[in-house]
Amino acid sequence: MAEHTLKKRPYGDEEAKKILLGVMSAETTDWHYNTHHKGYVVKRNEIEKKLADGGKTLRDAANANYSEFGELKRRETFNANGAILHDIFWENLGGDGKSESAKELVKKIISDFGSIEEWKADFKATALSAKNSGWAVLVIDKLSDGKLRNILVDEHGYGNIWGAQPLIACDVFEHAYYHKDGPKRAAYIDNFLSNLHWERIERRFNNQKN
Ligand SMILES: [Fe+2]
Repeated sequence: MAEHTLKKRPYGDEEAKKILLGVMSAETTDWHYNTHHKGYVVKRNEIEKKLADGGKTLRDAANANYSEFGELKRRETFNANGAILHDIFWENLGGDGKSESAKELVKKIISDFGSIEEWKADFKATALSAKNSGWAVLVIDKLSDGKLRNILVDEHGYGNIWGAQPLIACDVFEHAYYHKDGPKRAAYIDNFLSNLHWERIERRFNNQKN
């Protein structure tokens, strides 16, 4: 079975320390990627191997109260979604925060939220409302009505909408901001928005919109 690998960021580890400094401490650019993000990839591989190797023995003991099979299944998606959201988080960052370069997406944001300011206010409130281990995610809700929505996700999946494609993902797990901003999550969210790389976000939107 092919293993999952830690997806490279659009910038190197040393560059990250400079271009992400407004959002997180230099240490966090390393810890968050090389420990937390990598941890989801490593554990996802470990779980998939256990499920493959355990085969019938694990399946035969499946049980709603407790089973190793059930716990592995639960943690499989926790880690898979963790890796996916972090891939998008790093891809989103490293820019100047100016949305003008994302013409198509800005048009869609204005159509669905009224204005960029309205979208930002809703995104920020969403990120402030997630649990201390959660996310705010701008998604395109392809299976409902094709609209953009800011969704509140606790952990990596609770609150998600099936088929919704993530475009911007703001990590509000405390590991994302505490080393720089302590309990000031609002400051971190503002800095996250000011560091968005809208050219890359526009590319992701254009690949997902149809
Ligand atoms: Fe994280």
